[in-house]
Order: sequence, then structure tokens, then C-alpha cells
Amino acid sequence: MTHQQVTKSVIPAAGLGTRFLPATKAVPKEMLPVFDAPAIEYVVRESVAAGLDDVLLISGRGKEAIENHFDRNVELEQVLTAKGDQGRLDLVRETADLAHIHSVRQGQALGLGHAVLMAAEHVGSEPFAVLLGDDLIDVHTPVLEKMLAVRAEYGGSVICLMEVPHESISLYGCVAIESTDSADVVRVTDLVEKPPVAEAPSDYAVIGRYVLDPAVFAVLRDTEPGRGGEIQLTDALQTLAKMPAEAGGGVTGLVFSGNRFDTGDKLSYLKAVVTLAGRDPDLGADFNAWLRDFTAE
Ligand code: G1P
Repeated sequence: MTHQQVTKSVIPAAGLGTRFLPATKAVPKEMLPVFDAPAIEYVVRESVAAGLDDVLLISGRGKEAIENHFDRNVELEQVLTAKGDQGRLDLVRETADLAHIHSVRQGQALGLGHAVLMAAEHVGSEPFAVLLGDDLIDVHTPVLEKMLAVRAEYGGSVICLMEVPHESISLYGCVAIESTDSADVVRVTDLVEKPPVAEAPSDYAVIGRYVLDPAVFAVLRDTEPGRGGEIQLTDALQTLAKMPAEAGGGVTGLVFSGNRFDTGDKLSYLKAVVTLAGRDPDLGADFNAWLRDFTAE
């Protein structure tokens, strides 16, 4: 089977960030620092590392700081140049050169499915990736490139799955699956957004990485509001899972067993900061020594 190459990614970033108030009252949640960079920078780097350097941000009111972060800041560059601070100059220029960043505004927060639909014009008729900014995938355990390989082999759409404790499944999209010949690849037969624990078809949760067939756009246009009155991407995937391959249907899951941090959750956010600080070439050794003493007290 030959399939079109994936070249573009979409990063929905229009959410209100209510889980992290008051920190996110005036600052977009995507701009909260995770150690020494804003959360969204890690997600953009992950996309680029998988070969997708055309990045579309689905932005919204009050999110200008995100676009500024990936743009030049000439005034700051002039100050750093005058000071001869080449190191910091390189740092502020690097984020502007990281990727080809585009943005479109969602206008109304009508759900993740609606946010993805905003990408229709930019993406056109190619398959594309979606990366949710709340989910940080550890660079030591990358998953997006593997998902692109699954798409190349199976076609259709590919989602990332993670086994979670049974009582947590109602926080996620959840799937019914059938095995394939490959241990970590499954065929997705059914999806449901945030089911009550007792009704969940499995303990496999949908994690915020997707490779979608462009057929998703037509499906999203016809998808009625679902859980929470929002247009859910999970519901569109449920429709795709039942559609024939010739029509762009079929959903395959890649089971991920690496490290993922949910930066919208305070405990998981702290774990991400500590993990990255502990690995930092300049600070790591001192930080880890301090942390050992601190936790021993
Ligand atoms: C979204 C999706 C959900 C998925 C989750 C992963 O939910 O709707 O299916 O499991 O991301 O993080 P949210 O966390 O935005 O409510």
C-alpha cells in the first residue's frame, strides 16, 4: 500500500486552562514553563523531531504570547547584541527558527473536534498529526515517528493508547480493541469519550497524539456535540472506525508504554519539572543532590 506522506502537524491551543487557575488567568496554559521552556515548545520540538516542521497552532483570544514566543523579538535581540550575550541571543532566535509556525483562531471553544476542524483549509487533503499540548511525551521515549510508520503500513487514522488504572479511565477517551500480528499495534473497533468507569470497554486510554486521515474533516462537519456539549474528536474517530478503508476510514492504535506527563495536572506537572531539571547538564547534578537531601529530611 502506498500512502501520502505526512508533513503537517496541528496543535490545538485554544483551551481556557481552568485546571491551573489562577496561574492561567492572564497567561496561556501552554506558556507555563516546564523547567526552562514553555510547555508548548516541547510539543513543537517533538513535532519537528518526527519530521513535521509545518505546524499549525489552533489559537484563540488571549493566546498572543504563544505566537510571540515563536516569532522574532528584535528589541530583545538588539539589547542582547549590544551586551555581546551570544548565548542568550542564540536561545531567543532559536525558537523563531524552530518550525514553520502558522496559526488560525478558533473563535469559540466548541470542543477538540471543532478545534481540529479549524485546520481543514491549511491541511487540505493530506494526512496530518495532532499533538495536544497538555500531554508531554518524554524525549527519551518518542512515539510520533512510530505512529507515522503505523499510518504508512495500515492507512486510515492512528491513535496513541496507554493502559491506565481502571478508576482513571473516565478521564480519557477509551477504546475497544482487537489484536493484530504486531504486539503493540491494535485495531480499534469502538471509541467512547470519558465513559463512566463501569461502562468503559477497556483500560486503554487515548493519549494526545493522533495521525489523522483527511477524511476526518468531513466527519467532523457532521459530528453533533457529545460529552460536555462539545464536538468531540473521539466521536469523529468512532465514525471513522466504522468506515471502509476506501473512504479514509479505519482506526489503528499504537500502545505506548513510555513516559507521559499531563501538564494540566498539578502533580504530573511537578514530575515533569523535576525530571527535566534532574537531566539538565548544568543544573542536574546539584539539583539531584539537593532533592535527595530534601526528601531524606
Ligand atoms: C482530550 C480528549 C480525550 C483524550 C485526552 C488525552 O481530553 O478529548 O479523548 O483522552 O485529551 O489527554 P481533554 O484532556 O482535553 O479533556
